[in-house]
Amino acid sequence: MAKIKTKFVCQQCGSEASKWLGRCPGCGEWNTMVEEVAVKKAEITLTGMPASKPKPISMVDTSAMPRLLTGVGEFDRVLGGGIVPGALLLIGGDPGIGKSTLLLQVATGIAEKYGSVIYISGEESAAQIKIRAERLGKISNNLLIFTENNLETIIVEALQHKPALVIIDSIQTMYSPDIPSAPGSVGQVRESTGKLMRFAKESGIPTAIIGHVTKDGNIAGPRLLEHMVDVVLYFEGERSYAFRVLRAIKNRFGSTNESGIFSMEQHGLAEVTNPSGLLLAERPQGAPGSVVLVYMEGVRPLLIEIQALVSTTCFGMPRRMAAGFDYNRLLLLMAVLEKRVGIMLANQDAYVNAVGGFKIVEPAADLPVVLAIASSFRGTAVDPSTVVMGEVGLTGEVRMIGRVEARIAEAAALGFKRFVIPAGNLSSLKLARTTGLKLIGAASVSEAMEAVFV
Ligand code: TYD
Ligand code: MG
Repeated sequence: MAKIKTKFVCQQCGSEASKWLGRCPGCGEWNTMVEEVAVKKAEITLTGMPASKPKPISMVDTSAMPRLLTGVGEFDRVLGGGIVPGALLLIGGDPGIGKSTLLLQVATGIAEKYGSVIYISGEESAAQIKIRAERLGKISNNLLIFTENNLETIIVEALQHKPALVIIDSIQTMYSPDIPSAPGSVGQVRESTGKLMRFAKESGIPTAIIGHVTKDGNIAGPRLLEHMVDVVLYFEGERSYAFRVLRAIKNRFGSTNESGIFSMEQHGLAEVTNPSGLLLAERPQGAPGSVVLVYMEGVRPLLIEIQALVSTTCFGMPRRMAAGFDYNRLLLLMAVLEKRVGIMLANQDAYVNAVGGFKIVEPAADLPVVLAIASSFRGTAVDPSTVVMGEVGLTGEVRMIGRVEARIAEAAALGFKRFVIPAGNLSSLKLARTTGLKLIGAASVSEAMEAVFV
């Protein structure tokens, strides 16, 4: 950890001294000398890292990087094993999704294990934060709440307290007096983040910044900051559902494939260790229009039910609706069903829903969506112990998907026995048939339909 150089400056006349003096040597006033951080420009590079000499890569020391474990397991996992000292983290997400709740839980975890944590709030009063902490059920005396918007004051306080972690909630409410524009403006957000980056790198104190993603162009969104920080996490979910997903978009200290799954409960965010089981808990077995797929959330397989409802249109124009699935992709898949399979949907309304509030962007969901629509149209259920996955092309062919073995293993652990997968994947699978699983390769949508409807 770099040693922080400080100097003493008179608040009246601006005279400087290297040690504390009761009386200012410049103006002669008493008790006006205040400690400030002294930074020599040449010691800090443009990126905020301490300046260094070139050295052979083999000589680079990587040992002195013990990570801080927050006690929120899913959060630690997404970071690649905890918080790295001196790291600057950005946690973005829609307003109201649970960012403050997550970071308060993280702050409490660190405060209990590693000493003080400063939680700086520019949005809520200290009392509001205390009420939230009481709701979460844990109050730590090491957690310091600081309601302040001026970044200079914040940095001075943080340097005095030398906490284990600093949390800024949110970057849109902070301002640096060096810049005349209002808090939340592009200039302020960028300048404040730059200051915090220098603070984190020089002091070695990890700093987490909360940023709201807004659709309003006037307020600078955290996307602007992604290149400046070490780690970018997005906290996502549908507000009306309990599930929340924490994803790493950028991580200088770990992989970006990890994702953490939480559910928003009465007493804060709970880690969900078996999301697939929960997601399928209310599945109607044997109902037409319901198909299960294994969706890859980063490197994490999740079982998700796709539901479709197809019914005859009452008005001239049929309605199509997709929740948790791309609308245009749905139209494309319905066109494939009409043209390649001969299921006429021109006078049918079609509604597709990915259960649980997840947004499915993977092509592996194509075949399940097609089969769910076909199943609802025909009024025939798909066998409830069958899992379907595959990408569908415009000629009605079923194309290969990635990580099939991991997907099958997750579904098999929950008792699924039959798998309709792309024919191309089947030939390359090493998974022995001795596992008692029935793997069916489908080269086209028609073949997949033969396999699921008997
Ligand atoms: P919050 O963390 O304030 O969201 P953000 O900081 O992202 O704007 O919390 C958002 C919602 O979570 C809020 O509407 C209330 C709800 N909530 C719970 O359901 N349970 C809880 O224990 C807490 C603290 C909040
Ligand atoms: Mg908040």
